[in-house]
Amino acid sequence: MSSNIVVAIDGYSSCGKSTLAKALAKKLHFIYVDSGAMYRAVALYFIRNNVDLNNHDQVVKALEHIHLNFHSRDYQTHITLNDEEVSAEIRQMPVSDKVSAVAAIREVRQEMVRQQQRMGKSKNIVMDGRDIGTVVFPNAQVKLFMTADPKIRAERRYKELLPTNPDMTLEDVFENLAHRDYADTTREESPLTRADDAIILDNTDLTPEEQLQFALDLVKPLIV
Ligand code: DC
Repeated sequence: MSSNIVVAIDGYSSCGKSTLAKALAKKLHFIYVDSGAMYRAVALYFIRNNVDLNNHDQVVKALEHIHLNFHSRDYQTHITLNDEEVSAEIRQMPVSDKVSAVAAIREVRQEMVRQQQRMGKSKNIVMDGRDIGTVVFPNAQVKLFMTADPKIRAERRYKELLPTNPDMTLEDVFENLAHRDYADTTREESPLTRADDAIILDNTDLTPEEQLQFALDLVKPLIV
């Protein structure tokens, strides 16, 4: 039996999962993996190469040509797609608009889950996503399910995106989030759902520091 600690953080889009996951990993010197970045990088490859999402053979073939790697620098997500740094591009709207459809494809999920499980095999890790506590690491020692008021989530994301997307409106962001929530929770393949043993963290009224303390109180007792 492996003795490494896995912290699984799932929840809706723009709930602050990655902010908490990064802070927690940094504090505890765990590895941080942003699983959403992996789906985003796959979506970017599919966009660039005009992969038809309904064409099974094209999807499978494309997956064979995708090599993803994380480079941890100060607990920020740096992801490369076939050796090209794509961390900024995967946050742009074209990818955000397409990524839920890409993440709904069974073959894409199987490949991502396989890679994610490998990353959490022997090291202490914090991974955030939508199916981490349910599918990727059903035996994770700590599972959090994050949620927050949709309006607050849209405002937070809008502030983040505005500097690089000056034409975007708050309504655009709100709609994109609502669309992704719907797609993520209703898809057939591993829909976003709370694991029975996940602890709900509604952070609508919590500061990042309060959220970190909440998570630390759960994880610290497990560290020997
Ligand atoms: O967390 P994020 O917004 O960067 O995720 C991008 C998309 O990928 C989102 O639509 C949900 C999907 N996703 C998923 O299906 N499973 C994961 N483990 C992580 C993300």
